[in-house]
Amino acid sequence: MSDMPVKTEMVSIGRTDIPRTAVLAPMAGVADRAYRLMCRRYGAAMVTSEMVSAKGIVYSDRKTAQLCSVTPEERPMAVQLFGSEPEFMARAVDIVLRYEPDIIDINMGCPVPKVVGTGAGSALMRDIPLAAEICRAAVRAAGDTPVTVKIRSGWSRDSVNAPELARALENAGAAAIAVHGRTRDQFYSGVSDPEVIRAVKAAVSVPVIGNGDITGFDPCRRMYETTGCDLVMVGRGSYGNPFIFREIAAGLAGEEYAPPGLEEKMSVMLEHIRLMLSLSEKSEEMAMHEARKHAAWYMNGYYGSAKFRGRCYQLSSYAEAESLAEEFIRLQERRGTM
Ligand SMILES: Cc1cc2nc3c(=O)[nH]c(=O)nc-3n(C[C@H](O)[C@H](O)[C@H](O)COP(=O)(O)O)c2cc1C
Repeated sequence: MSDMPVKTEMVSIGRTDIPRTAVLAPMAGVADRAYRLMCRRYGAAMVTSEMVSAKGIVYSDRKTAQLCSVTPEERPMAVQLFGSEPEFMARAVDIVLRYEPDIIDINMGCPVPKVVGTGAGSALMRDIPLAAEICRAAVRAAGDTPVTVKIRSGWSRDSVNAPELARALENAGAAAIAVHGRTRDQFYSGVSDPEVIRAVKAAVSVPVIGNGDITGFDPCRRMYETTGCDLVMVGRGSYGNPFIFREIAAGLAGEEYAPPGLEEKMSVMLEHIRLMLSLSEKSEEMAMHEARKHAAWYMNGYYGSAKFRGRCYQLSSYAEAESLAEEFIRLQERRGTM
């Protein structure tokens, strides 16, 4: 599937071996099945589902079940759950196991008020005993499927406690810890602090996944070198850029990497949209609504991008996307900016 270099090191989480390159971050509203498949095709070492409510699964919401399913081409894949009650977490894990995820991940980093307000996501960073209890309940229910946890550096800048929380989670049976080096009160502003990730790595013996602000091979190499983390996780750096995983894998293997030209980018954008349409149960027009932001991301960074991105937000059919891509290529050819 992916063009992984032959001698890439492996990191084991439970019985899953993951190439030590870069994995895709869970991103609700972005990293759906089509997105995950694109990232796997272009070299992501592992992917994670969008976060799913533990309570939602227990009350068997149909959409929730769809969010938890795993297709062979996505593997290795983690399904991510969020919740604030150990009992619901355990029951949700039991249901999710039907889909045979390679890993079950628990979200303890989400900053959005809707999640935090229920005591889940990054709210758990303020209650280490409860966080550990939730993790223990999930581990018990998961049997031999590994349970990992994704955290932030802390709740606020004056309460950075990721190393302490990570230790408690390891004691509760977590098989790996992913750390986004921002506090909850930073949301997505400022920068991700590698120092906290380094401190978590020093605090636990399970694999640590470093996350935050990875936009290419150089930042990824720095993350590995400065923190000693076992894996690197990429979120927004993959927007309109599934190639980032190939770039990272090639860089780490010391291989030459030629970034894709505009024609290849546009053809991959159309491949991504076709995949979205084929996987969607919605009409072409409705599915195109969801594809718009992705189309806009693929056109980032060129002459006239702003105007074209605006036009992406009006796309309502695949044929329109195809013509827009052709027009964009012709414009860059005329400007000599290919
Ligand atoms: C649109 C969006 C949705 C996200 N959804 C989730 C989620 O469902 N679960 C989660 O643990 N983190 C979620 N995150 C956080 C990312 O996984 C990641 O930790 C964060 O974006 C920092 O990494 P980056 O700088 O590489 O983007 C989301 C981030 C974004 C931007």
